[in-house]
Amino acid sequence: MADVGFDNKVAIITGAGGGLGRQHALLLASRGAQVVVNDLGGAVDGSGASTGPAQQVVDEIAALGGEAVADTSSVATPEGGAAIVAAAVEAFGRVDIVVNNAGILRDKAFHNMEPELMNPVLDVHLKGAFHVTRPAFALMREQGYGRIVSTSSAAGLFGNFGQTNYGAAKMGLVGFTRVLAVEGAKHNIRANAIAPLALTRMTEAIMGAGLADRLEPACVSPIVAWLAHEDCPVSGEIFSVGGGRVARIFIAETHGYFDAHLTLEGVRDHWAEICDEAGYAVPKNLAEETALFLPHFR
Ligand code: NAI
Repeated sequence: MADVGFDNKVAIITGAGGGLGRQHALLLASRGAQVVVNDLGGAVDGSGASTGPAQQVVDEIAALGGEAVADTSSVATPEGGAAIVAAAVEAFGRVDIVVNNAGILRDKAFHNMEPELMNPVLDVHLKGAFHVTRPAFALMREQGYGRIVSTSSAAGLFGNFGQTNYGAAKMGLVGFTRVLAVEGAKHNIRANAIAPLALTRMTEAIMGAGLADRLEPACVSPIVAWLAHEDCPVSGEIFSVGGGRVARIFIAETHGYFDAHLTLEGVRDHWAEICDEAGYAVPKNLAEETALFLPHFR
């Protein structure tokens, strides 16, 4: 089979000045995409800014024969999101792909989680995806084509100490993705999410040596590129990826217990049935979830 290509496709990759985003940008550009390398160039906690990282990645892509432009706007404001999309249109005339990857960390145990730790994390991860995707989605609807890949995290999907802010933002991106998948379906716009694991500046302090050695950021980019491709077969899905392993994560619902006159004691007494994973369903959207009630009501 022929290699997967991105000729005539324009991709915005946020936070692409280093870590995972840089690898996504290098891979997409090496396959023919025209890339907007967005990066504010700040520290892991979101402080500071620099034009250096985004331009360096653009220079790397150019040296390898690819096409890219740098953008140093912050994803965390509506103006920043609009500027990033405008940069893509100005340089390349359209937007086919948005990879929401920019991120920061401000970890603290919940009892010490002050608003100044919570708000910037939501602003960059969750609202940042909203600010960039919204103007891009308008263009995608007009052209009847688009691919959106957002970066979630196992910290939100499954839980991790000290990350109520980050976990809420990352799980928020799952809801964002699933609703975009529903709304984008009739415009050939697909939205999916990844939960990556990789050694980057964000994780170097917390990863043990044995694990870190196996987690090259470049190993995450193939699934991102596939979800960004025209032939991507899914929408509204989440994939765990790291060190060469890729797996689907899904949100499932047990068959459950039904009693038209449900009581508090009935809940207590049928707890095992309520939680029993045998015969679970994997609804794709709200309508499919609601349909699970109907057999009981007949
Ligand atoms: P990183 O710190 O190398 O990359 C994040 C990039 O986002 C940085 O280059 C930073 O300058 C940029 N950025 C931060 N705020 C920005 C803003 N307001 N506007 C534009 N750019 C901004 O870290 P890494 O690991 O590459 O993270 C990439 C994404 O993957 C993040 O969303 C992170 O939460 C997520 N992730 C990473 C995991 C890992 O194991 N490395 C695990 C789970 C999720």
